[in-house]
Amino acid sequence: MHLPLFTGSLILSSAAGFAAAATAQSISRGNSVCSQIQSTISTQSAVYLPGQSEYDADQTHYFASSSQPALCTVEPGTPNDVSRILNVLVQQKVPFAIKGGGHTGGPGFSSTSGVLLSMNRLNTVQYHASSQTADVGVGLVWDDVYEQLQQFGVTVVGGRVSGIGVAGLTLGGGYSWLTNQYGLVVDNVVGFQVVLPNGNVVVANAQTASDLFFALKGGYNNFGVVTQITFKTYPIGQVWGGYMVVLDDQLNAVTAALNKYIANVKDPKAALIAAYTGVPGELLASIEMFYDGPTPPAGIFDDFLNLTSVQGSIGTRSFLELVQTPPSGQAAGPVTRGYYDTATIASPTGPIIDAIVNETTFWSTQLASSSAVELVYAVEIFLPNILQHAPEGSSAYPPTRSTQYLPLAMNFQYTSAGDDALIKGAMASSATQLGHVAAAQGQNTGAVPVYGNYATTQSFSAQRIFGANLGRLQSIKQKYDPSNVMGLTGGWKV
Ligand SMILES: Cc1cc2nc3c(=O)[nH]c(=O)nc-3n(C[C@H](O)[C@H](O)[C@H](O)COP(=O)(O)OP(=O)(O)OC[C@H]3O[C@@H](n4cnc5c(N)ncnc54)[C@H](O)[C@@H]3O)c2cc1C
Ligand SMILES: *[C@@H]1O[C@H](CO)[C@@H](O)[C@H](O)[C@H]1NC(C)=O
Ligand SMILES: *[C@@H]1O[C@H](CO)[C@@H](O)[C@H](O)[C@H]1NC(C)=O
Repeated sequence: MHLPLFTGSLILSSAAGFAAAATAQSISRGNSVCSQIQSTISTQSAVYLPGQSEYDADQTHYFASSSQPALCTVEPGTPNDVSRILNVLVQQKVPFAIKGGGHTGGPGFSSTSGVLLSMNRLNTVQYHASSQTADVGVGLVWDDVYEQLQQFGVTVVGGRVSGIGVAGLTLGGGYSWLTNQYGLVVDNVVGFQVVLPNGNVVVANAQTASDLFFALKGGYNNFGVVTQITFKTYPIGQVWGGYMVVLDDQLNAVTAALNKYIANVKDPKAALIAAYTGVPGELLASIEMFYDGPTPPAGIFDDFLNLTSVQGSIGTRSFLELVQTPPSGQAAGPVTRGYYDTATIASPTGPIIDAIVNETTFWSTQLASSSAVELVYAVEIFLPNILQHAPEGSSAYPPTRSTQYLPLAMNFQYTSAGDDALIKGAMASSATQLGHVAAAQGQNTGAVPVYGNYATTQSFSAQRIFGANLGRLQSIKQKYDPSNVMGLTGGWKV
């Protein structure tokens, strides 16, 4: 599906680098693209060049490995300016990237050596009490959205830790602390405002452009540049939760508590992540707990709370404060590189959790002499019915709603670019191993939908993310983007 739209010398590969862009020819070409964009946009938008502080801010990602130097960054302030910018990029066939919160673990997904569109100026939240919806600008991170909705006593179904972008998380599917109650993030989208590859600004919802609406719910950046998302809102008050960190000697107790929690807890207001983690010289576990109410009923989290923790913060607080309680929103260091990956696990049975702990141990030893600083296997526990909050076939992701699965989040962080291939390979092989263990347990791993927002080492194909939806997505793309303009930007392609 890749049309070789761009044939100049500017870009050799999305992940490779600036060397290609740094030729005299491409710099002058870059200048001409950037200055042409500058001359076409309104005063509500701006273009920044290397050396400017705004350029540096636009270029920043959660993982340093997800960045690459762009010719210039552009901050569109209106959908019409996005349309004007796209026209220039299409005319000149220049690769581009769209950056929301910059949290992707995929190099080249929201970075480019062409033109980077940083969406941060699209930063408004408008609450509509009558329809219980909120219009949210795609340049925001979830913290901002929760903060602005707090005064109305409502929130939206979104990210679980600080700093994640609204755009990328939603366009991939989205798992929230509220997913057990209300479904995936895409199940709670009422509509998208999107600038199509032909420059038209349109709305996609259940009534208008419903094929596009379906496609954007999990289909990433294949159909246009999204400028605003309308979400359902839900009442929220004080919630309970936070995190605790326990050391190696408590890991068996964590696993026992986790197995008991999986077997017994059916309360949709409760949510849990148990992250087995290797740091240099040590194994630990970080337990993140959530309850939608000021105190959890007795019995739900007691086994965890009884563990001896070395660090933590648990209590009754606002939803915003809960989300902003570390640790998982913080990168292991300021120049940390990293990937996410996942595995085809239907449900986390005891032997699979044991295998996850074994993987943590195994790779901590295996990568001990590399620049790895943190190897995380986050076991996210959801109720078996979370996909029943929206009808089968209502979204690009997941391709089936009849199959239960565990969206395991593996995240390896390291510091040396020389270790990129090593780390990526280790994650892919660990993911494969866990898939084998699940299959050996009799799980139908071939039917497990792979969560693309976690699968960023790209050891899984788009086929594994979209499954039977892939053909439908390809024909919707053909309709809205016949000349593959969105092929100029990186990420999952249909
Ligand atoms: C610390 C951390 C915590 C996380 N927690 C969760 C979690 O709780 N739940 C969960 O589901 N996932 C979680 N994730 C994964 C997360 O969903 C992805 O990293 C996601 O890509 C983040 O979105 P972003 O806007 O920050 O990313 P970006 O890197 O800005 O963008 C990601 C992708 O979205 C595309 N995109 C961005 N904006 C637009 C737009 N306006 N129009 C079209 N395409 C666009 C980009 O092209 C890119 O391919 C977490 C990741 C991290 C690092
Ligand atoms: C937690 O610890 C307390 C005090 O030691 C004990 O009374 C209680 O039974 C423990 N609860 C669980 C669930 O183990
Ligand atoms: C632990 O993991 C390694 C690496 O995946 C694997 O080779 C080994 O068989 C596993 N050990 C057990 C006991 O499962």
